Amino acid sequence: MRMKFALISFFLTLFLVVFSQKYNNLAPTPPMGWNSWNKFSCAIDEKSIREIADAMVASGMKAAGYEYINIDDCWQGERDSLGFITADRLKFSSGIKALADYIHAKGLKFGIYSCAGDKTCAGRAGSRGYEYQDAIMYAKWGVDFLKFDWCNTSNLNAQGAYQTMSEALKRAGRPIVFSTCEWGKNKPWQWSKNMAHLWRTTGDITNCFDCVDEHGGKFKTYGVLQILDMQQGLRNYAGPNQWNDMDMLEVGNGMSLNEQRAHFTMWCMMSSPLIAGNDLRNMSNETLKILTNKELISINQDSLGISAFKFECTDSVETWIKPLSKDDWAICFLNRSAKIRLVAVDWKRFNLTDSLTNRELKISSSSVYKFTEVWEQIKEGDTRKNTCAFLPSRDVLCFRLRKQ
Ligand code: GLA
Repeated sequence: MRMKFALISFFLTLFLVVFSQKYNNLAPTPPMGWNSWNKFSCAIDEKSIREIADAMVASGMKAAGYEYINIDDCWQGERDSLGFITADRLKFSSGIKALADYIHAKGLKFGIYSCAGDKTCAGRAGSRGYEYQDAIMYAKWGVDFLKFDWCNTSNLNAQGAYQTMSEALKRAGRPIVFSTCEWGKNKPWQWSKNMAHLWRTTGDITNCFDCVDEHGGKFKTYGVLQILDMQQGLRNYAGPNQWNDMDMLEVGNGMSLNEQRAHFTMWCMMSSPLIAGNDLRNMSNETLKILTNKELISINQDSLGISAFKFECTDSVETWIKPLSKDDWAICFLNRSAKIRLVAVDWKRFNLTDSLTNRELKISSSSVYKFTEVWEQIKEGDTRKNTCAFLPSRDVLCFRLRKQ
């Protein structure tokens, strides 16, 4: 009898452990893709999403590593008589499955959006009480990525609500990246790593470098620097398959070129997911060049998945350092001020140990690194010779150091 009881509880525990874990290894490096919200908010339909998928391939973004085409809020119609979610019939008249098929045929992946509350933030049908049915539907449609929001959740417990959706996805049987969007309210970095692959750390980004929009006191949205500052203390929670999500990119949506460079650089340094938020069908060459910067993408996608730390700040110029695989390092200077600054790089200053990972950077006459400045503002060289450059306001200099 005892034996039987022990066996039953063993299998029950095993079952719970297996099913209460997220799908494994779906995001070994930060996910890269595109999402409709920042540029289009609710103004989406199947035609424009298909065109965006076409542009992702034609522009070279796919070749640079972007793979997800994610539709955000406002794709939903009503639930059917059995409670299954349907697509908005006017905007997505061919249905979500047809859209997913189209995107898959281009060698891309397809992401969708829902919300833990009764209604989404834009007032469409939310998933509360329908998590398992929704997960079944997503799996049937061929969804690869789910962003799960936090509006209209009244007294819901965040950890419990996200765990429920995570388990529903697992049971539905299709590997789907789970991206939670709880805005950092309940410190999701502390409890999400077994249930989600990425979690938003802040409220929404706004298309601005240094500002907070108050929205008439109702809620706040944040500029690039504000979101960066809110990452303090979070780097130890990031790593393969568990990313701090700094929100979707605003590159190509109107900030100045140098601000966009700085924005993209810092998202790469922090190992944030890179989810473009501009209209890929009409982007300037400058925007495309920023979004497809090879060196920075490889810094972001580095297999160690270690996020950067702030090394120092002098005269509003911050130095950020990211350990990379093969003993490479990235060192970036971010000028937050309104004035141009002279950055004099004395390489030996960067002899250091990263206290989180114990990785040591040693620069000396016998330990030499070749450097490349990722925006090509300084010629390549090596650490035997110091270098310097003027750094405009709200801009970056960013070096990749390769061990010789
Ligand atoms: C919230 C999210 C945004 C976006 C909108 C959609 O504000 O944080 O990223 O998904 O909802 O309504």
